[in-house]
Amino acid sequence: MTARTTRHSVPAERWPSAAEAAASRLFAPLSLRSGLLLHERTWVPAMVPWRATADGEVSPAVLDWYRRFAEGAPGALVVEATGIRDVPSGPLLRIGHDRFLPGLQRLVRAVREGSGGRTRLLLQIIDFLAVRRRPEPRRFLRDFLVLRPEHRAALAGLQGAGDDALRDALCALPQDALARVLDARELEALRMGYRERVTDVHLPHVADLPARLPGLFADAAARAQQAGFDGVELHAAHAYTLASFLSRLNDRADGYGSSPEGRLRLPLEVLAAVRARVGPSFTVSVRFLGDEGLPGGGTLPDACRHGAAFARAGADVLSVSRGGKFEDARQPAVGEAAYPYTGPSGALCMPSVFDAEPPFGRNLPLSAAVRAAVRAAGCDTPVVASGGINSFTLAERALAEGACDLVGAARQTLADPDWFRKLREGRGAAIARCLYTNYCEALDQRHLEVTCKLWDRLGVPGEPAPPRSRDGRRRLVAPRGDWTPALRPPPG
Ligand SMILES: Cc1cc2nc3c(=O)[nH]c(=O)nc-3n(C[C@H](O)[C@H](O)[C@H](O)COP(=O)(O)O)c2cc1C
Ligand code: SF4
Repeated sequence: MTARTTRHSVPAERWPSAAEAAASRLFAPLSLRSGLLLHERTWVPAMVPWRATADGEVSPAVLDWYRRFAEGAPGALVVEATGIRDVPSGPLLRIGHDRFLPGLQRLVRAVREGSGGRTRLLLQIIDFLAVRRRPEPRRFLRDFLVLRPEHRAALAGLQGAGDDALRDALCALPQDALARVLDARELEALRMGYRERVTDVHLPHVADLPARLPGLFADAAARAQQAGFDGVELHAAHAYTLASFLSRLNDRADGYGSSPEGRLRLPLEVLAAVRARVGPSFTVSVRFLGDEGLPGGGTLPDACRHGAAFARAGADVLSVSRGGKFEDARQPAVGEAAYPYTGPSGALCMPSVFDAEPPFGRNLPLSAAVRAAVRAAGCDTPVVASGGINSFTLAERALAEGACDLVGAARQTLADPDWFRKLREGRGAAIARCLYTNYCEALDQRHLEVTCKLWDRLGVPGEPAPPRSRDGRRRLVAPRGDWTPALRPPPG
């Protein structure tokens, strides 16, 4: 892989004293419509760390991961995207059955203990459609491709031939000829791996999504409530089912696509079902896209409409993200699955120092516009911004200018889970600052345990051996105390 050029450096910051922090907007409390009090405006957006068991259960490493974030005592912490169905999905958390409850209860306890009861805890709940690994071409043409008369018609001299002969002929075709014989979806399945879409209404389980999803999301939310979470976040962002319903690319003709109202219909029905099940005093956040970042995809005016609709429908929090779609993902290697953060829309989701524009506070214009639309609709629903927010100055300015009500920081909190605490205590100089070079995201892409480049090779004198990744090379949680790379240069 070619080395990428770092185009921006992390700006120096004048850190606040403890008194300045105490008087700031960032550390002012906020009461949600549900009655939940956030002690401060700091928010840790969901991050999948690839630490659940193969059965989707909370593992000891999951507990360590969230306890470590809780020690920084942010206002709110959103637990990673957690599957609402009871189907195998690798080491991703699941909540599709009551058997997941004891593990999730342990997670809630770990966060309560870690934060001294200060941090409010939400669980992000998600539905996703099938995505298969990129097949070996011969295997695809021999075993997976469903033969159609058009394939036969395109191959001269094979009109009367059997299926095996036809498949052999397809295998023998050069790439460009094969591209003329296969249709767009078949070619995509060959080059990227098969991927279902919400518009595949010829598939009964896809046609049926509007009937099934409200109940599945409501069941999952009720379990989260039973496990002791303060709320749930409906994942309607990035590449997943609810986001695909909201997308401008959704042309379903059954009343659940094609028009602005149609695209919003299922996410609103899900929100209504969840609210009906959990009642008014359980917090429900909705995470959605301020901009899909795709040709032909939804843009900010769509997001403003979505935000206002979710607010009117009673969401307690709106969290604005950006991009992260499958449509423009990079071609995976054979045997691997496409990953929605590898293309241009992925770069918008996790802005980095390799981009033309600096990543710092990059998505604030989106949350500002969504917030304004929500206010214009007569709602005061708080809006979370995220995307490169890494300093007190940036956070304060965003709050003062009305770009958001809650400040989301994912990677900066991964880099230094204590950073909010250090800010609060007037110890900003001890903060380890995220480099925005996306080492963590590259691990996520490969489904490896996510860690941070700043600390995963770091030994701290006197510290008992920390838990390590499966290959034994990387520590799994940030060191405690003042270990900042300003004091110790980071490895490689
Ligand atoms: C390792 C990793 C995993 C992520 N997993 C999720 C997820 O489960 N759900 C989600 O909505 N966003 C996820 N994100 C996106 C973040 O929540 C956030 O929107 C993004 O990183 C931009 O914010 P930041 O610049 O503060 O990191 C993930 C990001 C990272 C780095
Ligand atoms: S690995 Fe650490 S420093 Fe690098 S982008 Fe991720 S959180 Fe930031």
